[in-house]
Amino acid sequence: MKSKDIIKIEGPLLGQSNVCGPILRALPEWFGIEEATVQYIQDVGELPTFLARIERVVVGFMSVKHHYPYAAELYVLGVYPDCHRHGIGRALLASVETYLRRQGVEYLQVKTLSDSHPDEGYAKTRAFYKAVGFRPLEEFKTLWGEANPCLLMVKGIQ
Ligand SMILES: CC(C)(COP(=O)(O)OP(=O)(O)OC[C@H]1O[C@@H](n2cnc3c(N)ncnc32)[C@H](O)[C@@H]1OP(=O)(O)O)[C@@H](O)C(=O)NCCC(=O)NCCS
Repeated sequence: MKSKDIIKIEGPLLGQSNVCGPILRALPEWFGIEEATVQYIQDVGELPTFLARIERVVVGFMSVKHHYPYAAELYVLGVYPDCHRHGIGRALLASVETYLRRQGVEYLQVKTLSDSHPDEGYAKTRAFYKAVGFRPLEEFKTLWGEANPCLLMVKGIQ
């Protein structure tokens, strides 16, 4: 990816499993639990999804889930590894927030691996969430099983 590449965001779209599945498959350090990944790919098809394209090629996505009128979740997201750290995640989130804000959503949550787990990939993921405004709210030690402590993060988006 070159610094002058223009990132185009489209969405929300439904039925994007075939487009987003390969991105999750390209991120085995983050999506290495087969059963969970299959479920994510299936869920993407039914959730409002935003795609990031560079020269028409999809390079990243975010899918969101509405839980309540005022609360939504950044449910699953990924960017191809060779495109990390070029502003694609930030651009996707800006479009997601605009979409949710228009519907009156006030709080956006995301669940990720907690820092009580030493995984280096997820340390980068948490650095991304922190940089784009999410803050740790609570750790759930057993929600995903004791081997994968879950951190709930939240961002006010109004
Ligand atoms: C998390 C992810 C979607 C972020 O997308 P991205 O396009 O790489 O992120 P951006 O380039 O928009 O980063 C925005 C800011 O986040 C922070 N950030 C992102 N990656 C970072 C890293 N590896 N280390 C430290 N800070 C980081 C930086 O502050 C960055 O801004 P800067 O580059 O101007 O300093 C992407 O890295 C990814 O696909 N990760 C693997 C899958 C994953 O973690 N999914 C979520 C599971 S819960």
